[in-house]
Amino acid sequence: MPTTVITHIGSLVTNDPARGDGSPLGLVQDAALVIEDGAVAWIGRASEAPAADEVHDAGGRAAIPGFVDSHSHLVYAGDRTAEFNARMSGRPYTAGGIRTTVRATREAADEELSANLGAHLREMLRQGTTTVETKSGYGLTTDQEARALRLAREHTPETTFLGAHIVGPEFEDDADAYTALVAGEMLDACAPYARYVDAFCEKGAFDGDQTRAILTAGKAKGLIPRVHANQLSHGPGIQIAAELGAASADHCTHTDDADLAALADSGTVATLLPGCEFSTRSPYPDARRFLEAGVTVALSTDCNPGSSYTSSMPFCVAVAVREMNMTPDEALWSATAGGARALLRDDVGRLAPGARADITLLDAPSHVHLAYRPGVPLVAGVWRGGVREV
Ligand code: NIG
Ligand code: FE
Repeated sequence: MPTTVITHIGSLVTNDPARGDGSPLGLVQDAALVIEDGAVAWIGRASEAPAADEVHDAGGRAAIPGFVDSHSHLVYAGDRTAEFNARMSGRPYTAGGIRTTVRATREAADEELSANLGAHLREMLRQGTTTVETKSGYGLTTDQEARALRLAREHTPETTFLGAHIVGPEFEDDADAYTALVAGEMLDACAPYARYVDAFCEKGAFDGDQTRAILTAGKAKGLIPRVHANQLSHGPGIQIAAELGAASADHCTHTDDADLAALADSGTVATLLPGCEFSTRSPYPDARRFLEAGVTVALSTDCNPGSSYTSSMPFCVAVAVREMNMTPDEALWSATAGGARALLRDDVGRLAPGARADITLLDAPSHVHLAYRPGVPLVAGVWRGGVREV
């Protein structure tokens, strides 16, 4: 397989603290990077780069690890523009709109769902994202949830079983019976296509006991737990995530100090979703509190047709810097290495020999421009697994 060198990278984020200036971003100035067999083979100064079969001159542009978007809901059909419009006229977000998407998703053919998912993944790639997690949760019957995960698996290995998104419409008066279905027959049908199990722990969705029952059953089937926690109100979701050793607790909009201590102690990543607060006009979580408490923070889009219909990690980085008290360096780390931690992956989210050659080239002299130039399409090139995709 031919080797490729990307040379004259003005500023390279490696997320390898052993490299460069010793900061968490492991910045290397005037860098080069060699790709071999889909992986990073060498990183160093451009002047010392070994020869390769193909040469790409970055012309002083910055490069970063491809973004790792560790939370999205992309197996769906239908449109919720009207709901968004109503929200922007003052209606609150309640998660009730999930039912609208469930109806449309159930009616859609496999081909439509798969094409919609593929189109969104392509949109993400063009914005520099090379690893994407996505979930079921708009089917809410055994067959529909298994179908969603089977289709998702054809696009990404990072799939999450979210049968516990809301109580299925057939069970509206019996959340416990629906919980038993999710933790039993539905889990059995979905586990072969999923890597994680998730539940929306919230008033009106699943309470602490129901959440615990579903995640524990998923764990027994070999799935890794993650939780939609503390999104619309303060509840037990974060504590349950920490107690069960979940890979991440996602949203974390309403937290107290005990929640942050539990996350720090357990090592559970807090996945913050600025697109969701933006699109639901909710107050943003203060990432500074999480970082000062020693919590690992990931940033992700939560891309879904209801609460956060953005596929853009650059947008999330910019909002996290402006509204959530993160520095540009912290936000970049959380959108790459943080996302990889939330997915328990060490081959992505960083650039070092042996890591996957997922590289996003920016039309900018440094990664700081992602926050400094919000809304500007700065992605100039994307390699995924060593292959130039954009
Ligand atoms: O992460 N909180 C629950 N689920 C999604 C919203 C899904 C929807 O509104 O369709 C979320 O925000
Ligand atoms: Fe979500």
